[in-house]
Amino acid sequence: MSPQQKALILPKKRGNLKVDSRSIPSPGTGQLLVRIHSAALNPVDYKIHDTGIFVTHYPVILGVDIAGIVEGLGEDVENFRKGDKILAHGNLYIIDQGAFQQYALTVATFTAKIPSNQSFDSAATVPLGLDTAVGGLYGSDRGAGIDPPWVKCVGDHGPKRPIVILGGSSSVGSYTIQLARLSGFYPIVTTASPNNENLVRDYGATHFFDRHLSGNQLVAAINKVTDSPIGIVFDAVSLPETQSVGWRLLAKNGILVLTLPASVKEDEGKGRKAVYTHGDPHLPYNHELFSNSWPMVEKWLSEGIIQPNNHEVLPNGLEGIIGGLERLRMGQVSGTKLVARPQETL
Ligand SMILES: NC(=O)c1ccc[n+]([C@@H]2O[C@H](COP(=O)([O-])OP(=O)(O)OC[C@H]3O[C@@H](n4cnc5c(N)ncnc54)[C@H](OP(=O)(O)O)[C@@H]3O)[C@@H](O)[C@H]2O)c1
Repeated sequence: MSPQQKALILPKKRGNLKVDSRSIPSPGTGQLLVRIHSAALNPVDYKIHDTGIFVTHYPVILGVDIAGIVEGLGEDVENFRKGDKILAHGNLYIIDQGAFQQYALTVATFTAKIPSNQSFDSAATVPLGLDTAVGGLYGSDRGAGIDPPWVKCVGDHGPKRPIVILGGSSSVGSYTIQLARLSGFYPIVTTASPNNENLVRDYGATHFFDRHLSGNQLVAAINKVTDSPIGIVFDAVSLPETQSVGWRLLAKNGILVLTLPASVKEDEGKGRKAVYTHGDPHLPYNHELFSNSWPMVEKWLSEGIIQPNNHEVLPNGLEGIIGGLERLRMGQVSGTKLVARPQETL
């Protein structure tokens, strides 16, 4: 029998998640076999579980945020060695590449080394949140299409431009604030709960507003921050009420970047656009963008340009993910990423 591991398996659409055994896969060309030490949870994991969106083939292994140690290398993998500590963006559509298991395959192009200033737990908070921020800011069709930092240095952007990031304490929002700072935006206006004000300012927000203000109050307060037209609003939350705030703030020809499908109606007159970004590097139309951003990840982390999210480690290895997903579902997670340690599965 091939070597076995433990995995949290979703056997069918809207089925029950269960820890079971499955074989440890072998890496193909351009892939790494990784022993997963930390795997972070994302809202998409419970959404797939509850509604069956995105995936069509079962069984499924959820989770895309991977941090661990390289155990094996496929052909044509350069830059990585056995024993390297890495983080990687897993793939929901391929069972061997899901994060909620003890060993997974990762694609070398979307894998980076973990610098010595980060732990497995902190590194696991990075992939999906950062990639969604990268896609939303730098993606040309499904993003705001601004010049990425690996093409244009900070300071090359001419006059400072404002950006509004709704939901700055969310994982996606936190990485968007940090990239906005790297890309030279000013002011960087964000919303969150008051207890997360220091956190979002630490990420780089220059102006903070309580997300519990009414839509009218938020629009009025944010409009007072700058006289410059607001050309980009990044709505990391993308609920109908936040989309409405973002849409109303947006100047003529501006772009509203969304993480969920649009509920605002694009109008003809002002030329404003709403784009639904996808932070999944494995989607063919995202390959080029993320092949350029992933080589930056180790440097961004080691130099503190990107600070991982705060995290909380869940008990009981893979089994603990079930309770963690319930907390995400209930909206009980604030300014923090939940992280599981698959090797601690009993
Ligand atoms: N399209 C994609 O590729 C993609 C990728 C990743 C995520 N997403 C989606 O994007 C959304 C965010 O994901 P995430 O992982 O960043 O979530 P998360 O970190 O779990 O979000 C939790 C945070 O949301 C904030 N929040 C909730 N309602 C808010 C509101 N009305 N205004 C401002 N902040 C609010 C909370 O802020 P406070 O606690 O400070 O109040 C909390 O810190 C989810 O719907 C997710 O499914 C999409």
